[in-house]
Amino acid sequence: RPALNLPRLRDMAARGEKLAMVTCYDATFAQLLDAAEVDIQLVGDSLGNVVQGQSSTLPVTLEHMAYHTACVARAKRQAWLVTDMPFGSYEASPQQAFESAAVLMRAGAQMVKIEGGGDIAHTVRFLVDRGIPVCGHLGLTPQRVHALGGFRIQGRDEAAAAQLKADAAALAQAGAAMLVLELVPSALAREITQAHPEMMTIGIGAGAGTTGQVLVLHDLLGLTSGKRPRFVRDFTREPGTAADAPGLSVAQALRRYVVDVKAGRFPDEAVHGY
Ligand code: KIV
Ligand code: NA
Repeated sequence: RPALNLPRLRDMAARGEKLAMVTCYDATFAQLLDAAEVDIQLVGDSLGNVVQGQSSTLPVTLEHMAYHTACVARAKRQAWLVTDMPFGSYEASPQQAFESAAVLMRAGAQMVKIEGGGDIAHTVRFLVDRGIPVCGHLGLTPQRVHALGGFRIQGRDEAAAAQLKADAAALAQAGAAMLVLELVPSALAREITQAHPEMMTIGIGAGAGTTGQVLVLHDLLGLTSGKRPRFVRDFTREPGTAADAPGLSVAQALRRYVVDVKAGRFPDEAVHGY
């Protein structure tokens, strides 16, 4: 497969092909994700949780993100590579955001992801005008967990849904080429996706109506302990089989995720949607 870039991703989306994104933090998995034909690898600040053992993404630094981006970038060949801007690396000003984004792009990122809506639209425009592709992130934004009051569904009531739509419009207007929608009602995510065909939406706990899907690597491999959010599926198991039944290999599970996303079998609205 040729290496993916923004025009190719846009063509796929325009043809109605669902995009499969997975988080990645190291070289071994970068290769495995490429072999499974995952379209987009995200060096997420979820590495704070799954790699560093933190209880939130707030302690993750720009240096941590650059290090893991470089590890992934050395190994991946085909996927489009997106890296999260960590907490505290972009909020102060567009100039601060540019300096931070430059560090990540030098490390091998092809696009940076920023949490926030209208409040950071000016920063998104500043980066896009300087040749840095930007992915937004709305809904449950983990860097704001303390202000949001926990990890729960967003955009439920009418006012919150209107705010989310306005934020998505502001990001599209600012030139964001992609938008992660996390923990929002399926109907709202579908509406936002249809309203902005130029901005590819990637859902996590956002139903089946988005341009693509993303899961945290460790979640989709069933490696995460504790209570599993409704939107997660363990792709090492056939749905409905016993927890101690023999599972699929890592390579098989990753491939199953891609195939099921492309076929519209994941997410299953009745099981994983809100
Ligand atoms: O950090 C992360 O893994 C993310 C995805 C869940 C979208 O931001
Ligand atoms: Na993140």
